[in-house]
Amino acid sequence: MRYDSITDAIGDTPLVRIDPAVHGLRHIDLYAKLEMLNPFGSVKDRAAWHMARPGLPDAVERGATVIELSSGNTAKALAVIAGMHGLPFKSVTNRMRVPEIKELLLLLGAEIEELPGQTECLDPTDTEDPLTLFHQELSRPGSPSLHTDQYFNVLNTEAHATGTGPEIVADLGGRAPDWFFACVGTAGSSTGVARVLRAHDPAVRVVGLVGQKSDFIPGIRNVDEVHEVGLFDPATYDTIEAVGADEAIDGMLTLIRRCGLLSGPTGGAAYHGAVRHLRPLDAELDGVSGADLDGVPDGETGRRRTAVFIICDRVESYLSYVRERRPELLGRPPAKNSVATLTDAEVRAATAVDTADAQKWIAAEHPLVVDLRGPFAYAALHIDGSVNIVDELFDELLRGGLPFSKGQPVLLACPVGEKSARYAALLTRMGHPDVRSLAGGIIAWRDAGAPLVRD
Ligand SMILES: Cc1ncc(COP(=O)(O)O)c(C=O)c1O
Repeated sequence: MRYDSITDAIGDTPLVRIDPAVHGLRHIDLYAKLEMLNPFGSVKDRAAWHMARPGLPDAVERGATVIELSSGNTAKALAVIAGMHGLPFKSVTNRMRVPEIKELLLLLGAEIEELPGQTECLDPTDTEDPLTLFHQELSRPGSPSLHTDQYFNVLNTEAHATGTGPEIVADLGGRAPDWFFACVGTAGSSTGVARVLRAHDPAVRVVGLVGQKSDFIPGIRNVDEVHEVGLFDPATYDTIEAVGADEAIDGMLTLIRRCGLLSGPTGGAAYHGAVRHLRPLDAELDGVSGADLDGVPDGETGRRRTAVFIICDRVESYLSYVRERRPELLGRPPAKNSVATLTDAEVRAATAVDTADAQKWIAAEHPLVVDLRGPFAYAALHIDGSVNIVDELFDELLRGGLPFSKGQPVLLACPVGEKSARYAALLTRMGHPDVRSLAGGIIAWRDAGAPLVRD
C-alpha cells in the first residue's frame, strides 16, 4: 500500500469476526468494524477529514484557525489535519475529563478552551449555555474560523454513509447485517451507517448504545444527554439501550484479552450491548427451521445471522479512566472509597435537604458547604461561605479517608444534586454522621430565589 498523504489512509478498515467461543452465540456471526485502525486512531478521522476538507483551501489562504467543540477524538483528528495544513487548531469544550486526551491534544499542537456547561454556569445574565453561545458565534456567516461543527454538520453523517456503511456491506458479500450496533456520540457514525444498511435491507435492526444515567463513558452520550445532539434522530434506531461504565470496561477487557482487539471503552460498550441484545434472540433460533421469529429479521431456513458493531478507538488513552474505576486491573489496591462502588440503595438512602431546609440548617448549625462544581461556575455564582472543591479533586481527597472531622456537619452542592447525593452516600458509608446533599443542586437553590454571591 502506497499513499501520497496519510489522509488517503483514512477508511477501508477491517471487519473482523469475533470468535464464537468468546461471545457464545450459536446462530449469529458477530463482526467488529475496526475504526480504531484509522490513522489518527478513531472513527472520527473519517468525519474530521470529510468536514474539514472542503474548507481547507480557503482556510489556508486566510490563515484561519480550525475550531471544533470536542474534547476527544474529533479534536485529535482535526488537530493533526490542521497541523498538516499549517493551520492552528482550537478545541472548545466543557471540562476535559480524560487527562491523557488533553495532554495528547496539547502535544498535537491544539489550543484548548474549557467552558462550563449550562448546568454548571449560573450567571443569571447568561440566558443560554456558554457552549451554545460559542457555537452560534462560530456559525455566523463571515466567521473568521473554519468551524467544522460536528454536532450539526451533515458531512459528519455523510462520511459514514459514503465510507463506513458501504465498506460493511461490501465485506459481508453485498448484504447488510441483520443487526447493527453503534455507540452514539454526535450520532454521525450510527446515522450514516444505518442509512446505507437500510437502503440495502429495510429489515436491518439498528441498536444505538448510550451510557447509563449519570454514568460516564468517554466519547458518548448518556441516556439523558442523547436527545440534545443536533444530528440525533430517534427514527434512526429501532431501539436505544444503555450500558454501564463497568459493563463497558468488562466488554473492553474481553475484546483486548480474548480477541486481540485493543479497543477503548466505547468499543467495549458496543460489544457488551451487542451480546446482551443478541443472546435471547440467538436462543430463539435454537432448533428453528423455517418459521419467522419474533425480532429476527429474516425467516430463511438455516441461514446464519450476522451482526456488526463498531470499535471506535483504542485503549491507550483511557488508562487513567480505568485506574479510577478499576484500579485492581492496573495492579493497585481496589478503590476503597470510590463513588463507583456505591449501590443504588446507598445513594437513595443518603440525606438530601431542599433549599429551604438547607438555608435553615446553615443558619442554625453552620455546616461546611462544599461546592463540587468547576472553578469557573463557582466563581460566577455560589453560596456565600461555601468552599469550592471540584468533584475530581474531592474524589482524590476521599481516597485518603474522611477529609473532615466527624463533628463537622457537611452540606454538599453540585449543579443538579446528583453528584452531591453520591458523595453524601460515600461519606456516610465512610462513617461521617451528618452529611447532606443539596437536593436539586445550585440550580434548585437559584430557582428558589436563595442568595448567591460571585467572586
Ligand atoms: C470513543 C468514541 N466512541 C464513539 C463515538 C461515537 O461516534 P459518533 O460521534 O459518530 O456518534 C465517539 C465520538 O466522538 C467517540 O469519541
